[in-house]
Amino acid sequence: MSASFVFFLFFIIIFSNHPAYADDQTTAKNTTQLVDRVCNKTSNYSFCVEALYTDPRTPDADTYTLAYISFGLAYKTATNTRSQITDLLKNNATSDDLKRCLKDYNTAIEALGSGLNDLNSETFFTLPGYANTTSRSAEDCEAHYKSLVSTTIKSLCQICVVVANLFNGGGS
Ligand SMILES: *[C@@H]1O[C@H](CO)[C@@H](O)[C@H](O)[C@H]1NC(C)=O
Ligand SMILES: *[C@@H]1O[C@H](CO)[C@@H](O)[C@H](O)[C@H]1NC(C)=O
Ligand SMILES: *[C@@H]1O[C@H](CO)[C@@H](O)[C@H](O)[C@H]1NC(C)=O
Ligand SMILES: *[C@@H]1O[C@H](CO)[C@@H](O)[C@H](O)[C@H]1NC(C)=O
Ligand SMILES: *[C@@H]1O[C@H](CO)[C@@H](O)[C@H](O)[C@H]1NC(C)=O
Repeated sequence: MSASFVFFLFFIIIFSNHPAYADDQTTAKNTTQLVDRVCNKTSNYSFCVEALYTDPRTPDADTYTLAYISFGLAYKTATNTRSQITDLLKNNATSDDLKRCLKDYNTAIEALGSGLNDLNSETFFTLPGYANTTSRSAEDCEAHYKSLVSTTIKSLCQICVVVANLFNGGGS
């Protein structure tokens, strides 16, 4: 009776502790020095770390790979947002705001594509400008169509800018 009660308590402790333990493991990421250095320069450290670690290459990434990863993440997000806009346009084909957003995201995707192209040819000085263009396009869309929240794309662009500046002597 008493032994099984102790056993019962033992399980209560195990199971009640488990979620907290799991949370600790996911929040306290073992980040690399490079990721730490980059994310520390963005406005949301934990967003930055979480975003970069969705890519399996991040634990071993050098600056070059991290630039690919960050521009790739922004590209993927911008493409998803553009699909969302295209869907919204199906029900609202005359909305000038949505048309404007589509134009904005076409601009953003083109800029990010150029960034990825330049990375392929190891041209780095253009990268901050492309990230900037993307961020401003997302803001322009949001100003016209509020429900297309662009926090994610803007935060991803911020990571792109920080990584890009590491090539241009802007790193510390
Ligand atoms: C954290 O990463 C370093 C190398 O980047 C490694 O040596 C260390 O074992 C890792 N620690 C944990 C808890 O995974
Ligand atoms: C993060 O930046 C602050 C200053 O903004 C600095 O004091 C701190 O040491 C930095 N941490 C890392 C891990 O780079
Ligand atoms: C930072 O990003 C996390 C998601 O990674 C989010 O939960 C949190 O609200 C963000 N913080 C701010 C101040 O935006
Ligand atoms: C169409 O778009 C406008 C914004 O341009 C919005 O105010 C309106 O609610 C939308 N209509 C529908 C049916 O989604
Ligand atoms: C990015 O845009 C801001 C204004 O929106 C500007 O101050 C900054 O110089 C731009 N940076 C680059 C690299 O174009």
